[in-house]
Amino acid sequence: MKTEAKRLNMLYKEIPTLKFIKIFLDEYKGKISFSSSFGAEDQVLIDLLMKYEKKVEVFTLDTGRLPNETYTLIHEVNKKYQTKISVYFPSSQNVEKLYREQGINGFYNSIENRKSCCYIRKVEPLKRALNGVNIWITGLRAEQSVTRTDLELFQWDDEFKVIKLNPLILWSEEEVWEYIKQNNLPYNELHDKGFPSIGCAPCTRAIKEGESLRSGRWWWENPEHKECGLHKG
Ligand code: ADX
Ligand code: SF4
Repeated sequence: MKTEAKRLNMLYKEIPTLKFIKIFLDEYKGKISFSSSFGAEDQVLIDLLMKYEKKVEVFTLDTGRLPNETYTLIHEVNKKYQTKISVYFPSSQNVEKLYREQGINGFYNSIENRKSCCYIRKVEPLKRALNGVNIWITGLRAEQSVTRTDLELFQWDDEFKVIKLNPLILWSEEEVWEYIKQNNLPYNELHDKGFPSIGCAPCTRAIKEGESLRSGRWWWENPEHKECGLHKG
């Protein structure tokens, strides 16, 4: 499948996103899923994808610790596109065990605790969501962080055994917002409160001017640790 990712890269990397998405969805109909965390990039993608006859399964991972603004947006998106995106929750048994082991906010105490929480609340549900999927679409962009600079348009993901497609890989923050404004899309209210990156409520905070885009995520950790296991840095 690594070779398939390579082949797709050669085929599509010169074509602008807005053009190749349609061709691609037709070709891989029924085998593609898009995961949304309801950040700005995901709003662009859901709009692009929904325009093409809903050929893509859209899902989100509800960790149980999402900010209220994200739930508000899930509701708005379902209404706007007359859809009901799939929601994957963590296993209740796993969350109960996690609580017994590290308490309610144990993620602040060590990277190990934080990674266990991310594993239980995000990675394991993602594995279920990607079961039987060939192509996983994400809203990753290369300029988001030091852990994402070597992203490719199509990338074989050895952890989840799927080809990851990152259509916005080369988009800038400005291009994302231009698309949102031009198309009058709903977006996460947290963006207006200083949050460029959207994650779980206790692990994400607003940033100050000049700080990097993901500096509000797990702000107590070093930049090279700032991945939760969804996207290996
Ligand atoms: S994260 O790994 O640090 O949480 P980030 O918030 O930058 O990722 O989002 C990058 C992409 O990962 C999103 O565009 C989306 O495709 C996917 N993603 C992240 N969090 C979630 C989530 N809770 N549910 C579904 N997809 C998600
Ligand atoms: Fe847990 Fe924080 Fe990871 Fe969310 S981001 S799953 S609350 S450690």
